[in-house]
Amino acid sequence: MGYCKEQEQEQEKMMKQVWIHGPIIVGAGPSGLAVAACLSQQGVPSLILEKSDCIASLWQQRTYDRLKFHLPKHFCELPLLGFPDNFPKYPTKHQFISYMESYALHFSIQPNFKQAVQKAEFDNITGLWRVQTQDREYNTRWLIVATGENAESVIPEIVGMEKFNGPIIHTSMYKSGSEFKNQSVLVVGCGNSGMEVSLDLCRYNAIPHMVVRNTVHVLPREMLGMSTFGIAMALLKWFPLKLVDKFLLLVANFTLGKTDQLGLRRPKTGPIELKNVTGKTPVLDVGALSQIRSGKIKVMEGVKEITRNGVKFMDGQEREFDSIILATGYKSNVPSWLKGSDFFTKDGMPKTPFPNGWKGENGLYTVGFTRRGLLGTASDAVRIAQHIAEQWRTNKDCNKSCSSHVILLEKS
Ligand SMILES: Cc1cc2nc3c(=O)[nH]c(=O)nc-3n(C[C@H](O)[C@H](O)[C@H](O)COP(=O)(O)OP(=O)(O)OC[C@H]3O[C@@H](n4cnc5c(N)ncnc54)[C@H](O)[C@@H]3O)c2cc1C
Ligand SMILES: NC(=O)c1ccc[n+]([C@@H]2O[C@H](COP(=O)([O-])OP(=O)(O)OC[C@H]3O[C@@H](n4cnc5c(N)ncnc54)[C@H](OP(=O)(O)O)[C@@H]3O)[C@@H](O)[C@H]2O)c1
Repeated sequence: MGYCKEQEQEQEKMMKQVWIHGPIIVGAGPSGLAVAACLSQQGVPSLILEKSDCIASLWQQRTYDRLKFHLPKHFCELPLLGFPDNFPKYPTKHQFISYMESYALHFSIQPNFKQAVQKAEFDNITGLWRVQTQDREYNTRWLIVATGENAESVIPEIVGMEKFNGPIIHTSMYKSGSEFKNQSVLVVGCGNSGMEVSLDLCRYNAIPHMVVRNTVHVLPREMLGMSTFGIAMALLKWFPLKLVDKFLLLVANFTLGKTDQLGLRRPKTGPIELKNVTGKTPVLDVGALSQIRSGKIKVMEGVKEITRNGVKFMDGQEREFDSIILATGYKSNVPSWLKGSDFFTKDGMPKTPFPNGWKGENGLYTVGFTRRGLLGTASDAVRIAQHIAEQWRTNKDCNKSCSSHVILLEKS
């Protein structure tokens, strides 16, 4: 035991220390790329540390094939470089990935891949952030957290899970219904992922049963030929939130009918207010609702227990299933690696709400933790880059005297 500890300490001593002249960005998703681009435009070099082997790993590796934006493209552009003109109103995930690849190329962003940040802590003595990956310690004045609100899958513990004979996967591993043809599938969760995966399963003749344990707001993706999100954003500029919610629900009930009758009870709080208060995203319907209405997607109450061949539900029903898909959402991973900072809640979200959650203490910044998707990312990225650039210019002389932006220091 003691020997292992000594070996560990020795290894730590031997670890290469790297001094990074500009900011370190943790994560090469849309947020990391956006802030790197904005910094580069301000003449500030940065370094991205990314644990996977590609940019936008959530989009490339952990989303289903049929995924499309719910919001019109102009709400999802990253700063400084818009989408190509030939993109449709609601781009596909493949179009978004190709856009991000061009974006990285355009701004010459080259992340250090396969660098999983295991620990980052501010050192009061040096005034620097010490950022450790599996094989390096990076030191910097500015640390930008861009690891995302959806860094890890939420896997609930359900009684009897270990007994189930078939596969249990999270939606982050789901690619297409082609793997579930003609199967009876339980989808646990009715957020946007649960709804869209259930819809995709229908298209492959699978028989999805979707667990709805709570209330949920379902809104049409478009109202009166315009994006629901766009309408909401426009109205919020002029009217109080509660009134906008009332309007959205009025039109939703008119176009979709009362969802309560389908087993999708609406919360008492309106959709935007609920999003602001709890972070719970309303479902924007792209076809699942009509499959629920026709009985192709069956709505089930909460799961009581998983058995060898199926599930017992809260209402006493028992059914057999071939596979279970957990559409149970995602969580931030910040608390697992950012140490000694009380800027984040225990759930890994900034304590200060949008629009002021982008800046912490001692050169700490966060991008993409606004609960506002890519629109929030763009706003954070611009602010962070401006703020760091001001400090960068103030220290111009000092910066000039350093020849390179990355300096390797071997610990003796
Ligand atoms: C299925 C799905 C669909 C979505 N669709 C939309 C949409 O249409 N519009 C919208 O606005 N938003 C959408 N979102 C929200 C989505 O989170 C954002 O669009 C966007 O991906 C957020 O970008 P990000 O860079 O903040 O986080 P991410 O895309 O999650 O990127 C974070 C990066 O950090 C890396 N990372 C994590 N931890 C570490 C670590 N310790 N060390 C190093 N690297 C690390 C990850 O590997 C990842 O590459 C969707 C989310 C999901 C799950
Ligand atoms: N096309 C798109 O733009 C698109 C597509 C998919 C996802 N997204 C976005 O991606 C983010 C994540 O969406 P998501 O749908 O994956 O997650 P989510 O919105 O967090 O929804 C998770 C769902 O799982 C349920 N759940 C969690 N634990 C459960 C349990 N133990 N038993 C039963 N149900 C359980 C939740 O119910 P409770 O409400 O009761 O907790 C909720 O219905 C959102 O921002 C979403 O808008 C976007």
